[in-house]
Amino acid sequence: MEKRGGFKSKFGLIAAVGGSVVGLGNIWRFPYLAGENGGAAFILVYVIICFLISVPIMISEFSIGRAGQSNVVNSFRKVAPKTKWELVGLLGVVASFVMLSFYCVVAGWSLEFLKTSFMNGFAGQGSEEIKEGLTSFVNSGWRPLMWTGIFIVATCGVVFLGIEKGIERYSKIMMPMIVLILLGMFFYSFTMDGFKEGVSFLLSPDFSKITPKVILQALGQSFFSLSLGMGAMITYGSYIKKETDLSKLASTISLTDMCVAILSGLAIFPAVFSMGISPTSGPDLVFITLPGVFNQMPGGYFISIIFFFLLFMAAITSSVSMVEVVTSYLREEFKIKRFWGILITGVVVLFTGSLSALSQIEGSSLTLFGMNYFDFFDMISGTYLLPLGGLLTVIFVGWFLKPEIFRNEVTSFGMYKVRLLPVVRFLIKFVSPVVITLLFLSLLGII
Ligand code: PHE
Repeated sequence: MEKRGGFKSKFGLIAAVGGSVVGLGNIWRFPYLAGENGGAAFILVYVIICFLISVPIMISEFSIGRAGQSNVVNSFRKVAPKTKWELVGLLGVVASFVMLSFYCVVAGWSLEFLKTSFMNGFAGQGSEEIKEGLTSFVNSGWRPLMWTGIFIVATCGVVFLGIEKGIERYSKIMMPMIVLILLGMFFYSFTMDGFKEGVSFLLSPDFSKITPKVILQALGQSFFSLSLGMGAMITYGSYIKKETDLSKLASTISLTDMCVAILSGLAIFPAVFSMGISPTSGPDLVFITLPGVFNQMPGGYFISIIFFFLLFMAAITSSVSMVEVVTSYLREEFKIKRFWGILITGVVVLFTGSLSALSQIEGSSLTLFGMNYFDFFDMISGTYLLPLGGLLTVIFVGWFLKPEIFRNEVTSFGMYKVRLLPVVRFLIKFVSPVVITLLFLSLLGII
């Protein structure tokens, strides 16, 4: 059996875990969700959910992984032998596939847009033309397929190099670049006419928009953005050194993730307003509105290149963590070499990713429940699979895992005094399960 390896330095650990959480969720998904769902009111709900529900779940996931020292399925098996809880791990493996199937397609778009920006292909185009360009790109079929494929190969390449030499090393380069670029864009947006308007759009609250459905969306977004509910943090947890303070790590990572999401909004909306474009354009915000905005900005050529490069980096440091969930499972459960595990994962994702890319072609018959595959994968993972995975994880840790296993992990066997431990336990045992269940029931129309 190959050696498992692990994250070597503290900075490498933060970069890798930060790389997993900071992704398309922050830059592509969060700004439009906040924009559509009540601005600051949404952000407030989001922040509360992150602290009360998501941070405790992240601590739980790290603990399971570090105690189990294995892939997601076997970690559950090790901390709860001879039970059915390992199925929750399996659910995570399935969720990773589903996520990868649409995530790689969006990431592929970022590469197409990077190429077009580089060749100055957006020059002189307004939103309408950019929209037409995007439609013809998507409808061409082979172009999105090609970029999705390139992205998957790049992701698998990084994972192939291993935890330390691949994931940790590349995250250490890319994470600081991501933060620097976003900060740069944020400060640039200060100088724009629409700065005030953009900020007030994102930050002025509209509480009338907060419905149970929106709260569930905020919950789903929080899980998506913090890479929870599908085993990524369990898998990464198994590579964390015993001396690391898990609750501190989870809080730092979550805080960083929130800041990056809000910073993206603050970098994007002022630019949108300065150019007099409607801000609530949903998922298209980044791919239609922004190129149009960059077009009209001084230095827009470079900003556009930098921005889509940013999107690509954010995406790949996240997709590697999804692939690692699956390959570590295949590797350790079926005793195969890293290479084969990655090849199998890559081929399957290439297939499902292609289906989701092709399903976006107008009139495509690749639909499920009235949605194309792409939208279906996005919806089913964000709204159902991740919250379900998170729910089962807290029920497990709160009610079934031996309390001393959890305590030993959180305190690193007594190295740290975690004064808030009783609070964290209370949140895991009662608050999270109740809130997530209630939200599910209301989504299903039962209450
Ligand atoms: N957190 C990533 C993002 O924000 C997505 C992700 C989800 C990555 C689950 C890994 C696991 O884009």
